[in-house]
Amino acid sequence: MKPLLIRGGTVINADREFRADVLCADGRIAQVAPSITAPAGAEVLDAGGRYVMPGGIDPHTHMQLPFMGTVTRDDFYSGTAAGLAGGTTMIIDFVIPDPKEPLMAAFRKWRGWAEKAASDYSFHVAVTWWDQSVHADMGLLVQEEGVNSFKHFMAYKNAIMCDDETLVNSFRRALELGAMPTVHAENGELVFLLQGETKNKGITGPEGHPLSRPPAVEAEAAQRAIAIADVINVPIYIVHVSSAESADAIARARARGQRVYGEVLAGHLVLDDSVYRDPRFEFAAGHVMSPPFRPKGHSQMLWRGLQAGYLHTTATDHCTFCAEQKAAGREDFTKIPNGCGGVEERMSVIWHEGVNGGRLTPTEFVALTSANAAKLFNIYPRKGCVVEGADADLVLWDPQATKTFSAKTQRSLGDFNVFEGRTVQGVATHTVAAGKLVYADGDLRAERGAGKYVKRPAFGAQFDALARKAALEAPIPVKR
Ligand code: URP
Ligand code: ZN
Ligand code: ZN
Ligand code: ZN
Repeated sequence: MKPLLIRGGTVINADREFRADVLCADGRIAQVAPSITAPAGAEVLDAGGRYVMPGGIDPHTHMQLPFMGTVTRDDFYSGTAAGLAGGTTMIIDFVIPDPKEPLMAAFRKWRGWAEKAASDYSFHVAVTWWDQSVHADMGLLVQEEGVNSFKHFMAYKNAIMCDDETLVNSFRRALELGAMPTVHAENGELVFLLQGETKNKGITGPEGHPLSRPPAVEAEAAQRAIAIADVINVPIYIVHVSSAESADAIARARARGQRVYGEVLAGHLVLDDSVYRDPRFEFAAGHVMSPPFRPKGHSQMLWRGLQAGYLHTTATDHCTFCAEQKAAGREDFTKIPNGCGGVEERMSVIWHEGVNGGRLTPTEFVALTSANAAKLFNIYPRKGCVVEGADADLVLWDPQATKTFSAKTQRSLGDFNVFEGRTVQGVATHTVAAGKLVYADGDLRAERGAGKYVKRPAFGAQFDALARKAALEAPIPVKR
């Protein structure tokens, strides 16, 4: 592979920005310096007037997910290719075993599906049930397979929902292994109840979806997961925080000294629940995802959380179902497959609303779209930083260029775009993955199978600190 020299740009990392050329060789960043002479045979890319940033990391996607009786349109190739076109060079997807399915078997199945990925990828593994084999498989996953995070669905009753017993056992085991528990926080019992009540009132269309999953349903689960993590003394990461109430729960726990982390989806930052009352079924159903888009005002609180530092990452939950699949719920909103896209749009949406909107600095943008996810999932600075020795996953960013999103022009195989018609300023003009130019001014050169599985080591320091604190605070029996 020929070396690639990116010349004349401004590097933006999560800690600072500076003028530098960046040389990539053998898949790594070989040099970052004010003026680099091109080695013989190098390809030279002019980055004048543009930013050179670490490629985006989307820590929450579902490619090729079997879910609610169907499978998402984007597989690991089309989904990661779409990500590359938007400046995202790594995804962390989810292995979701069926209840009673061995974790290792599910993990191997997903590893096979993901071999066609065009960008690097990693996996959180969901714990959907509990017994001693799950306890053992979690150990294998952490110690041998590079998994350092486990997901728990507190919703989706009668499917993948886990009860408190499973949460407690799994959080305990995660602590023992130095792995991060994560939760989809919605009280599945309440969702089930409210779905039935909503339908009994004659509301069977997509407008019933947010009615069955109000903010309190999310907040209860977030608070419960936070409390369980507190008792067990393990850090916790809450995926797709969508409501002010959940964000508040995280802020309060952090203010008490608890290690709680929150993720926000690009969609939740810009959309509201009015979409569900649209008279067109396809449009309303196209927005059905969980947690749902919220009443106006919630997104403002999510932005505040990102700005204030108690929400940490941005993701998409990219999970594409086409109109034909969504139509399964035409007579019953509870049967609409849950999920929306966004992996291609996230970076520009966050830049436009965040940086152009005066909410974020460019360095904060890098933290929230890449570096924080790399740190939280223990792959920093291999990922998430433009520094010598890191993987050469980069994005060239033109802060002046504009783009209008549409399902007609998106790379994703989904036929819907929740950002349809939205014009953003600030776009990826070039994407470099493992030192290769894979996207250049609209020309997507994503290569099937070029992406690699990224192993993530168990956490050291953070868990050490928790263990020390626990030892210092350990109760001692009264001598009588
Ligand atoms: O609606 C969603 N989010 N579908 C994907 C599964 C999940 O809950 O993350
Ligand atoms: Zn154990
Ligand atoms: Zn979820
Ligand atoms: Zn998800």
